[in-house]
Amino acid sequence: MKLKHLLSRKLLENMTEKRRKDHFYFLARRLGYRSRAAFKLKELADRFRIFRRGAVVVDLGAAPGGWIQVAREHVGEDGFVLGVDLNPIKPFPWSNVKLLRLDVTSPGAPQLILEALPRKADVVLSDLSPKVSGVWELDVARQASLVESALKVIDEVLKPRGSAVLKMFQGYSFQEAFKEVKGRFESVKLTRPRASRSSSAEIYAVALLFKGGEG
Ligand SMILES: C[S@@+](CC[C@H](N)C(=O)[O-])C[C@H]1O[C@@H](n2cnc3c(N)ncnc32)[C@H](O)[C@@H]1O
Repeated sequence: MKLKHLLSRKLLENMTEKRRKDHFYFLARRLGYRSRAAFKLKELADRFRIFRRGAVVVDLGAAPGGWIQVAREHVGEDGFVLGVDLNPIKPFPWSNVKLLRLDVTSPGAPQLILEALPRKADVVLSDLSPKVSGVWELDVARQASLVESALKVIDEVLKPRGSAVLKMFQGYSFQEAFKEVKGRFESVKLTRPRASRSSSAEIYAVALLFKGGEG
């Protein structure tokens, strides 16, 4: 009886998960977004007022480009969006969206990103995630190291009082990475957008008022 109950609960969870995936997947296709991830940033942008028109935005781990599209909608024609990824990103028709194929963990990455910007960034986004291996500790450690690389970029390219959104994985080594984020900003909130899959360990840190960036 107990097993039956457990199995039907699991089945229900799977069905709900699929429905939710379908919802955001089909919505993305219908609205012309390149990924369902676009809806995560849409929600965060509305809730935390991350963007303003004319802003300079860096998007780390940007392929295939859903977040770039959302950022471009918010900053408009006078803003600037730089999408950075290991993988190639299909170009966009906007002249103020630039793409950089780069490993953000490479030592020269922060400087190369800074050089690709018209001025220091108002917002740095990071949806960076490793290829999930399925080995929990390994995936969490890899994600933490990507957060570390994103923070190096932030230290170099974000302007004083700028904002950031960083994907993190909950689990061991999370606290350490989170402490690093908190130390750099006046205010940091952790949140999970509705489009995050319930099976995913991801959580987003929305960080406001960067304390560094001088010089
Ligand atoms: C979840 S996807 C990003 C989805 C994107 N935000 C969107 O809306 O389309 C994560 C991305 O991180 C990229 N990535 C992982 N490690 C990277 C690294 N070391 N340097 C640059 N990009 C990396 C992957 O190639 C992948 O495209």
